[in-house]
Amino acid sequence: MKIISVESLSTLLQRHGFDNFLKDLMSKMRHDFSHWESFTQMPRPAMHVPGGVLELMPICDNKLYYTFKYVNCHPRNPLAGKQTVVATGQLSEIKTGYPLMFCEMTILTALRTAATSALATGLMARKNAHILALIGTGAQSEFQVRGAQLVRDISQVRYFDIDSKAMDKFRKNMTDKSIELIPCKNAKEATRGADIITVCTACKAHVDVIKNDWIKDGVHINALGGDTIGKTELELSILPRCRVVVEYFDQSFIEGEIQRFSKSEAQKLVHAQLYELINGSKYGRENEEEITLFDSVGIALEDYSALRLVYELSQTFKIGSEQNLTPVLNDPKDLILVLM
Ligand SMILES: NC(=O)c1ccc[n+]([C@@H]2O[C@H](COP(=O)([O-])OP(=O)(O)OC[C@H]3O[C@@H](n4cnc5c(N)ncnc54)[C@H](O)[C@@H]3O)[C@@H](O)[C@H]2O)c1
Repeated sequence: MKIISVESLSTLLQRHGFDNFLKDLMSKMRHDFSHWESFTQMPRPAMHVPGGVLELMPICDNKLYYTFKYVNCHPRNPLAGKQTVVATGQLSEIKTGYPLMFCEMTILTALRTAATSALATGLMARKNAHILALIGTGAQSEFQVRGAQLVRDISQVRYFDIDSKAMDKFRKNMTDKSIELIPCKNAKEATRGADIITVCTACKAHVDVIKNDWIKDGVHINALGGDTIGKTELELSILPRCRVVVEYFDQSFIEGEIQRFSKSEAQKLVHAQLYELINGSKYGRENEEEITLFDSVGIALEDYSALRLVYELSQTFKIGSEQNLTPVLNDPKDLILVLM
């Protein structure tokens, strides 16, 4: 079984190129989302524990592969020097049920979340969107900017975080000189004049990180941090003003910004699931004035695409180690022999 550690994934990204990886992931996702009906999927089971949530994200393509990701969200972890979100994942073959790869997925989650936001932004933001407001400059932030740059010509990033150290870290990591970086005193200032607003804050509560008053016509919003029960980032009155797109209604209704509506209200409010924009059956935007919202929670299909891409590239570049996480037996019934 192939093991992809943090170091292996980092080598793989260096060999393949960060942007190439994001672009390939976007095209894998386009393919997989356009085969939406062929997957067996379910809203992820979540276990709420003091200070956070633990989630398992399974999916099966019914032909070749089954994947799952284990992921958490503990917004107060950074106070103890730990990350808010960490993840691991597995890819198994359906034919035998044998696991083929076990993979680090903390970095992979940031990459796939950036690729997903980029897909949505490409389909929903105005073509002439150049100014990106980024609220929350934690672990996901730089990845989000790199994704946005693949679909729009981003010339300015206006950013804010309640933690000034996170803002300093973001500035230090943003080495692309083609982008003007504007540190802002608060979220309101960051959203001023923005064409795209990406919100990726972490707080396990209903927080109005973004206020309705600040949202001008024509803006596209990627809301990433509202992704579990009792955790949202947008003032509720923003939503009825928007063309709302979610990844997977059954999961988003439990976890997304739309969780605060009744099911029938949410069904009326949601314009499309992302796959319907990708397969061209619905439009992400119909005019320059519309306000669009990608209410993202992160779904198993995105991780499936990411794990498949890593599996293929790990074979191309011969990256990762082989470990027996399942016994190798001459006689499949003679399991005890392994211990003798
Ligand atoms: N939708 C998805 O697919 C997806 C994927 C990954 C992570 N997430 C979510 O994205 C969020 C960010 O994840 P991360 O890994 O970057 O976490 P992180 O803890 O590294 O960063 C979050 C940042 O938000 C800041 N913040 C908190 N409240 C704020 C506020 N009111 N205004 C401004 N900044 C504020 C924190 O100081 C921190 O720097 C989390 O809520 C996580 O659950 C969503």
